[in-house]
Amino acid sequence: MRRGLFITFEGGEGGGKSTQVKLLAQRLREEVRRAVLTTREPGGTEMAERIRALLVTGEPETLSSTAEALLNYAARDDHLRRLIRPALAAGKVVISDRFMDSTRAYQGYAGDCPLSLIDALERDVVGETVPDMTIILDIAPEKGLSRTRSRMEEQSQTRGEREDRFERFGLSFHRKLREAYLRIAEENPSRCVIIDAARPPEEVAADVWRAVAPLLERLKTEDPS
Ligand code: TMP
Repeated sequence: MRRGLFITFEGGEGGGKSTQVKLLAQRLREEVRRAVLTTREPGGTEMAERIRALLVTGEPETLSSTAEALLNYAARDDHLRRLIRPALAAGKVVISDRFMDSTRAYQGYAGDCPLSLIDALERDVVGETVPDMTIILDIAPEKGLSRTRSRMEEQSQTRGEREDRFERFGLSFHRKLREAYLRIAEENPSRCVIIDAARPPEEVAADVWRAVAPLLERLKTEDPS
């Protein structure tokens, strides 16, 4: 039986996922006597971070949706085996910035990877390690993309090192992506919560906390050891 808690953050570009992951982890560390592990996808282990570099840099047309799905799942398999499952088995709270719904949304519903392949990968690679809760940060793509562009300019990254391959897919892709996440939420109502991310981070964080708090009762009553 899983003793920890697995929470994932999802959504299109510029919804403030990494800020919300940090804020939630901070608050959990204050309020729950469990270790909290934050991680991200693609990435989280040495091998998965190497695969990430292939996916998020370079020109949009270098990989098909199917190749992207397979690479993301190669990274996810390593991430699950080496980091996520051992942490959950040890009773930790694991928060991941993106997980399996990103592949379904980006490569499946918004891209053209066959859904039969994504279903099979989910079943055989993720298996029972489905998140306890998935927070979908929803924002209009025009607003999200303009946020990420100004962030990159502030960091003055040069083109070659920018992790912006998916941001350059075009607005119609990002519109489909928003619909894709709403569809995922509709298909998984007991696991997914949609939060309006076009507001100040503290307001978004308050909604995230309201969604997560009921899950914490279980951690208070169960012994982590
Ligand atoms: P991010 O960490 O800035 O969100 O960047 C990761 C990018 O990779 C983002 O554009 C979404 C994309 N992605 C997929 O297309 N499929 C996946 O399965 C995952 C995990 C990420």
